[in-house]
Amino acid sequence: MHEIFIEADGIRHPVLTGEGLLAKTGEMLAMLGLLSPVMVVTNSTVGPLYARAVIDAVRSAGFECSKIEIPDGEKFKSIKTAELLYDRFLEEGLNRSGTVVALGGGVVTDIAGFCAATYMRGVPLVLMPTTLLSQVDAAIGGKTAVNHPDAKNIIGCFYFSELVICDHGTLGTLSPEERRCGLSEIIKAACISSPDLLSMLENSNLEDAGGPENMDQIILQAVSIKADFVRRDPYEKTGVRALLNFGHTIGHALEKAFDYDGLKHGEAVALGMLAAAKISVSSNHLAPEFPARLEKLLKRSGLPTEIPDVNMDDVISAMSHDKKKSGKLKFVYLSGPGQALLSDAPPADVIIKALEEMRSKQ
Ligand SMILES: NC(=O)c1ccc[n+]([C@@H]2O[C@H](COP(=O)([O-])OP(=O)(O)OC[C@H]3O[C@@H](n4cnc5c(N)ncnc54)[C@H](O)[C@@H]3O)[C@@H](O)[C@H]2O)c1
Ligand SMILES: [Zn+2]
Repeated sequence: MHEIFIEADGIRHPVLTGEGLLAKTGEMLAMLGLLSPVMVVTNSTVGPLYARAVIDAVRSAGFECSKIEIPDGEKFKSIKTAELLYDRFLEEGLNRSGTVVALGGGVVTDIAGFCAATYMRGVPLVLMPTTLLSQVDAAIGGKTAVNHPDAKNIIGCFYFSELVICDHGTLGTLSPEERRCGLSEIIKAACISSPDLLSMLENSNLEDAGGPENMDQIILQAVSIKADFVRRDPYEKTGVRALLNFGHTIGHALEKAFDYDGLKHGEAVALGMLAAAKISVSSNHLAPEFPARLEKLLKRSGLPTEIPDVNMDDVISAMSHDKKKSGKLKFVYLSGPGQALLSDAPPADVIIKALEEMRSKQ
């Protein structure tokens, strides 16, 4: 087991990574001085797989514990589901001295985190992320959210959990598609800040269906990188955390151009990263060899490197919609392997040229 800390407001919030941690949930809650009643919030996919182990562990450490299951899917990350959670919290007698435990992927950690942050102005929270993406990204950094029908993640707040428990054992049941999406965010972390993680990924058996054998090391590195960005800019105010958006400006625009259908977030980010690397070369920030190196790594991870049929104008207009929302559009460029910088977005023709180069040849 490894321990990393997320630091905000001078408080260190531990993240534990390793195998077999679910069975230790009860002792960990007790060690942190957390109290009953414990609400285990999970979903209809993860609950049947892992809630029993968590609830048994929590009860055998002497806590009262209830399970709350929400339906599976991004569309349930809504105010409506949040209301159902508040109803159950009230019914189960949750008060400020109780504890919310979120067991699931990023959807569950985001909405359970949001409800824990807002119910009675804040109840202690423990996150138990069960997807690769949530272990290295969504559960690390204190962001909670629900979606508005017109905008993702638009309702939320910063709320740091008392503890994050990343049990790698849970990744064994993850679909290859979800695993790839997690790898995409790990590759992003490597690209913007760690030549070491980049080499580690290049030397790992990423093609293996069960994931590379050094996954533990890879997760540990990725969590440490995210935790470091969060420590330097916990509330996303200085622009440091904005570097984590590498590949996301174009990635989000692609997701939107595909109507959030047919292209998963991690796949869109993979395409966005490759385009951003090409743009970094044409904007004279990056040596020309790097995009081919990134392309090879993405391909080996099973991630796309060619853009399926899409109207480029839709992609550009999705990006300018973002610009309307946030004023001047910034863009994350690479300046070397493991180095990134934030600057003004490139002109549309530079973006289109990079995307056209990546258009699917079939
Ligand atoms: N808060 C943040 O900083 C942050 C960062 C990145 C993403 N997010 C959010 O996270 C969400 C995406 O997270 P995600 O990719 O984990 O998606 P998800 O939570 O939808 O999980 C993906 C799928 O895998 C299933 N699943 C989860 N764990 C499993 C397991 N161990 N075995 C088998 N199936 C399992 C889920 O039920 C779901 O069907 C989005 O809502 C996104 O906005 C938040
Ligand atoms: Zn992302």
